[in-house]
Amino acid sequence: MEIIATDLVRSLVYLSLAEINLVFQIVILAVLSASVITLRKGRHHFLHGSTMLIATLLNALSFIWVMGPSLLNLGRLVVDKPYTMISTVTVAHGILGAIAGILAVWIIVPWRLRSSIRYCVGKRKTMKITLVLWMIALFSGILLYAFLYII
Ligand code: HEM
Repeated sequence: MEIIATDLVRSLVYLSLAEINLVFQIVILAVLSASVITLRKGRHHFLHGSTMLIATLLNALSFIWVMGPSLLNLGRLVVDKPYTMISTVTVAHGILGAIAGILAVWIIVPWRLRSSIRYCVGKRKTMKITLVLWMIALFSGILLYAFLYII
């Protein structure tokens, strides 16, 4: 009885962490969209760079807090049943998310919140690729959430 109760509490804790992460990801999506929209509307480069920095920090936090530990747990499933939909989505999400995260750091760190855009304007092409990879990672993460907790 005690074991069942402990398992129930544990699964509730995991579910709520997963839900918090889902909210995190939706906030990140909103920040990414706002960053690109403000850029297209008024060429506010500093605002664009700093909102991308915020999105990257939020993503890093959610990785350390929830996604990293969860991916470690899912690693067992990927090894045991590699040819299932959930394993495929897990691997795609992990790889694309990692590449997008590394590229984001590579774009943002040399800029370091300086007002001049000369530290980042040359990376426009990489920025577009990063955004596309980030979006795919984000939506595959939402799909993973649906596989794990809804379907
Ligand atoms: C994760 C990091 C970033 C991502 C995903 C990203 C994404 C993008 C995207 C998608 C565009 C093209 C928008 C369009 O042409 O409609 C763009 C343009 C641009 N970004 Fe970023 N960006 C990032 C970081 C930065 C940083 C740190 C700066 C430095 C201030 C910066 C400065 C610029 C500039 C100058 C342009 C060209 C805007 C223009 O044509 O006037 N970006 N970025």
